Amino acid sequence: MIVGIIGSGGREHAICQMLKYSKKVSELYCFPGNAGTSKIAKNIKLDIDDFEKLKNFILNKKIELVIIGPEKPLVNGIVDYLEKFGIKVFGPNKIASQLEGSKIFTKEICKKYNIPTAKFGVFNNIKEANQFLKESTHPIVIKSDNLASGKGVYICNNEKDSINAIKEIFDGKFGPAKNVLIEEFLNGEEMSFFIISDGISIQKFGTAQDHKRVLDGDKGKNTGGMGAYSPSRLITNQLEEKILEKIISPTLKALADIGTNYKGFLYAGLMIVDNNPYLIEYNVRMGDPECQTILPMLKTDLTEIFLSCCENKLSQIQIKWSKKKSLCVVLCSNGYPDEYSKNIEIENLEKIKLDSDDFIFHAGTDEKNNKVVAIGGRVLNFVSLSEKFVDAKKNITKHLKDLNWSGGFFRKDIGYKVIDK
Ligand code: AMP
Ligand code: GLY
Repeated sequence: MIVGIIGSGGREHAICQMLKYSKKVSELYCFPGNAGTSKIAKNIKLDIDDFEKLKNFILNKKIELVIIGPEKPLVNGIVDYLEKFGIKVFGPNKIASQLEGSKIFTKEICKKYNIPTAKFGVFNNIKEANQFLKESTHPIVIKSDNLASGKGVYICNNEKDSINAIKEIFDGKFGPAKNVLIEEFLNGEEMSFFIISDGISIQKFGTAQDHKRVLDGDKGKNTGGMGAYSPSRLITNQLEEKILEKIISPTLKALADIGTNYKGFLYAGLMIVDNNPYLIEYNVRMGDPECQTILPMLKTDLTEIFLSCCENKLSQIQIKWSKKKSLCVVLCSNGYPDEYSKNIEIENLEKIKLDSDDFIFHAGTDEKNNKVVAIGGRVLNFVSLSEKFVDAKKNITKHLKDLNWSGGFFRKDIGYKVIDK
């Protein structure tokens, strides 16, 4: 069958690669893709916010299944739009995507359905928000309600920083702001928990720990993710049961109660405090780089999984996983997450020898004059699977050394919690 993937990051390259392994897939299109996907799919330079052009292309080329990678088109209703034209799409609809599109939508569900989460208040003006601060203790968390790609969240240690955060949000730093969210600070360890759903049943889809800060030792600014490992060191059967029972099930019930359902990947960003899960946020897609870490462990045909979701038959499929450990280190352009130069050539890529358990997934790369150049902040994802995290890390370190790219940097300590010094 002919399959299309929307997106251009490491997550989409990983999805593309897994679909490429499938006997069911005859042709792959990536919108717009990157230099990595161009080797295994046809990259189509279309604006992914232009749903009509996408739809025309999909119908014209008779693409039979479309996978949506990133959140923005999902939140803007791409699934509802394409389905109207009879196109099979994997991803949640516009209403369900509010779980990521509006933090307040999710918080209201948490309140109504007793889902454990940080205590919170929603304020529609600076005065009341600042007044609330006076009665609160710090650290405290201030969030914009908009989609802000991991930005738009301030962890404030004092009132001065909190007042400034509230002002920046209402001044429109993350787009027009009607409300600001103020949350209790949760002190624990984070975990990314994934499920896949066809709208009727769900299956687990792995766990991971992301490293969001730019510098070693979890210091510096927040990023999209500098690396990850899977499975999370925190997961146990008991914790998994709590997450499904206290967080995932009531959320799906809440969606059913408002007359909709959830089809696609659902990513719960959790804080684990004393072995109890608290929901920090939902994302209506796979994580990036968690996806690049998790998918190489999949032993079941990903195309069949996606198809079963589109056909409401997920319960008929048994999803199998490798028991190995997986680690991913992200190579970034110098300067990320602030300003960085673009179109810097990445040499030596072809010199890296990858074993069958090693992968390089491209993110912000493009091909110019037969050369691979960096065009984004996060550039390449180095992934390795092994019996032990420490060996996966060794493989990756070797590959990064072989590449020896002067245009970029990476965190040296990815996985430090699961690798003994
Ligand atoms: P979010 O975009 O809501 O996931 O927030 C980004 C990051 O901020 C999270 O990954 C956490 O590290 C941190 N964070 C968000 N909310 C809280 C909270 N209530 N308590 C502690 N840390 C938080
Ligand atoms: N790795 C964090 C995210 O995908 O949102």
